Amino acid sequence: MENIIEELKKNLKEITSEQKLNEIKAKYLGKKGSISELSSKIKDMTAEEKKNFGALLNKIKTEATNLIDEKRKKLNDEILNQKLKSESIDISLPSTKVPVGAPNILEKIIEEIEELLMSMGYDVVDGPEIEEDKYNFELLNIPKGHPARDAQDTFYLKDEEILLRSQTSPVQIRTMLKGKGKEPIRMICPGKTYRRDNDDATHSHQFMQIEGLLVDKKVSLSDLKGTFDVIAKKLFGEDTETRFRPSYYQFTEPSVEMDVSCHHCKGKGCSICKNTGWITVSGAGMVHPNVLRNCGYDPKQWQGFAFGFGAERLAMVKYNIDDLRVFYTNDIREMKTFDRKEAE
Ligand code: DAH
Repeated sequence: MENIIEELKKNLKEITSEQKLNEIKAKYLGKKGSISELSSKIKDMTAEEKKNFGALLNKIKTEATNLIDEKRKKLNDEILNQKLKSESIDISLPSTKVPVGAPNILEKIIEEIEELLMSMGYDVVDGPEIEEDKYNFELLNIPKGHPARDAQDTFYLKDEEILLRSQTSPVQIRTMLKGKGKEPIRMICPGKTYRRDNDDATHSHQFMQIEGLLVDKKVSLSDLKGTFDVIAKKLFGEDTETRFRPSYYQFTEPSVEMDVSCHHCKGKGCSICKNTGWITVSGAGMVHPNVLRNCGYDPKQWQGFAFGFGAERLAMVKYNIDDLRVFYTNDIREMKTFDRKEAE
């Protein structure tokens, strides 16, 4: 019996794989293994012999099991160490670069304006892109057949009554109609607008506007100027100057174009501002008395100002982009240049 253990020890020494170890285990401890075979001899022994033999057999069984278990642990450790060695990571190797996205440039400008105006008490509101003629034109003081409609070549969807909004100004009407008793009304509405234009460097059949409206008592043009001033400085830098030029919109009186001093040449004149030192970024004005009346406000008591930025125009001016289409083609190489321009 003692020979068995010696022999097992010798066998175990030579083993290098788990498979071989299992074979050895079967050979000694398996049903037909040498230790099990010894136990079959018990039945022919006397009671005294059985006792001694049984005890010895158990001892050997335990010893053999321990030896095999020990060897198994050793083998597993070796395998693990080998694996760790062969799979070790070379931390000096350059890593794989994961490309990261950048915020959409139009969204960024819209968010900047939203954030600023929200801090001044404005609500950001939404309006339908499929709009009624009534809101898009009529209540904005542009009756059917009025030549001002020609400037906005509109996509009509049904009987000249339902259309894709050609401006975000209808949201002014919707807000005023809903806003009774909750004055002052202060809202901005960024959103998509549509016109039957052929797409080129400066036109798109779909573009973004940012509408603004304030209605209260004792509102004047200088309030608009002050508000515009804050927006212009935020977008183009603290040293930006602003000016109004007379203009014409059917829904404002007086109407103005709002200009910022050119942030590229600081007003000296360059190709971006066409040597004027100024860049127009928005239409605006005092809400027309007819529009106030259409929405149930007495113009003798209530006044308001409104403005409408073109988001693409703002982005083009800010980042010196000369082709509107880059906003919609989603070319990642173009997008990356915006980040670079911003860093400059
Ligand atoms: N809706 C005008 C357009 O699309 C822009 C505009 C001008 C909006 C003056 C206004 C405004 O609110 O007061 O051309």
